[in-house]
Amino acid sequence: MQEERAHWGSSLGFVLAATGSAIGLGNLWKFPFITWDNRGGAFVLVYLACILAVGLPIMMAEILIGRRGRAGVVGALRSVVGPRWGIVGMWGVLCGFILLSYYTVIAGWSLFYFTRTMGWTLSGYPAGLQTGDLFGEQVGNGGLQLGLSLIFSILTISVVYLGVHRGIERLARTVLPILFGILLLLLASALQMEGSGDAIAFIFRPSFGELEPGGVLEALGHSFFTLSLGMGTMITYGSYIQRNQSIVKMSALIVVLDTVIALIATVIMFSVIFSVAGMEEQVGASTVGMLFISLPELFYSEVPFGTLLGPLFYVLVALAALTSTISLLEVVVSNLIDQHGITRERAALASGGTVFLFTVLAALSFGAVPALSGFEIFAGKAGWFSTADHFVSNWMLPTGGLAITIAAGWFMTRAATRDELVDGTEPGWFRYDLWRLFIRFVAPAAVGAVIIAVVFGVDFS
Ligand code: PHE
Repeated sequence: MQEERAHWGSSLGFVLAATGSAIGLGNLWKFPFITWDNRGGAFVLVYLACILAVGLPIMMAEILIGRRGRAGVVGALRSVVGPRWGIVGMWGVLCGFILLSYYTVIAGWSLFYFTRTMGWTLSGYPAGLQTGDLFGEQVGNGGLQLGLSLIFSILTISVVYLGVHRGIERLARTVLPILFGILLLLLASALQMEGSGDAIAFIFRPSFGELEPGGVLEALGHSFFTLSLGMGTMITYGSYIQRNQSIVKMSALIVVLDTVIALIATVIMFSVIFSVAGMEEQVGASTVGMLFISLPELFYSEVPFGTLLGPLFYVLVALAALTSTISLLEVVVSNLIDQHGITRERAALASGGTVFLFTVLAALSFGAVPALSGFEIFAGKAGWFSTADHFVSNWMLPTGGLAITIAAGWFMTRAATRDELVDGTEPGWFRYDLWRLFIRFVAPAAVGAVIIAVVFGVDFS
């Protein structure tokens, strides 16, 4: 017997769940370090332009395809755009599968740093501890890595198992306010540090001479990643919305919240870095390590109320990651439910378990198993983890995103998309023809430029 299709309890529930998907390691980990690498200012401005010109229109497109199709990504694209488009949906499911497999590993690190910082808060920061060494030890410890990822996978599977309303929405409603609260506490503390002025200038004062062409493309690539676009997450979440809620308003809210959170996280991290003598050079050498190497120690030496904020910060990272991992698994699960008639419980266990097999490979690719850390398919991307991230960020999300702009802009009729976006609930500032111009021309041209750049060897991961 077919169960009634799941749906959100309210439009706020949807917005929180979708915002939870968008806010994740992309905001707290990736955005700060690519902003640092690209020397702030101009890069941030270009990133904001990409969010507005490409991210926002595609966000609306994905949600409208989902709501109209009322099915997981394969079913929705097939019914709304055309039978052949199922293949784009499968591409999205595959992408969710791969992305989840390695995202879980980094999410697991936040659990490790939570327990460590908790220990330091209770019994003092160990004298002479080098956080670089600590990081190396934890990632190289295969048993530990497997344990951390396993815990995180179980959390992800449990939430998805409980369902859209009782699992995903309820978690988002609880977690997002906590997440905003912790972030504001951290911001208040960071703004008291003497480096905060320099940090804000670095982030918001554009100097275009310093931006390289690769940076523009990196900003565009990241706008997909951070908004969870290009693989059907928003199609899937959109398929659980009822009518009579404005897709335009909800999309705008999700995009604004995601962007504001990324900027706040960056202000916090850079305030700390600019307050410590010599830190700039140290971070410069390992920008990726900002979150897990530079910061842990600084909480105990520099940050006002750092002994309390340290553990809280890693709770924040873990929660932000969890609301993203569940959205990735949900893409796979909802598709199994809709296309293959499997129950949610079985689908969650089977797909979560299968993804975990690949998580094992990612977890062991930081030194624990040399064969997994060393192999190289893409030049300079050694190991399972980097290979998967490179493939997803550089190939899968941009191509998936391009396909979605073409589907919504060229294959769906004007009447159909208009019907979803202009239904009396849309805000006064919205201009349908402008959206259509962006989805048909501006967004595909920009994404096409990224793909061409990738073909010619620029790297976004
Ligand atoms: N948006 C998430 C982040 O910023 C990552 C993500 C990508 C989640 C794609 C779901 C789908 O961390």
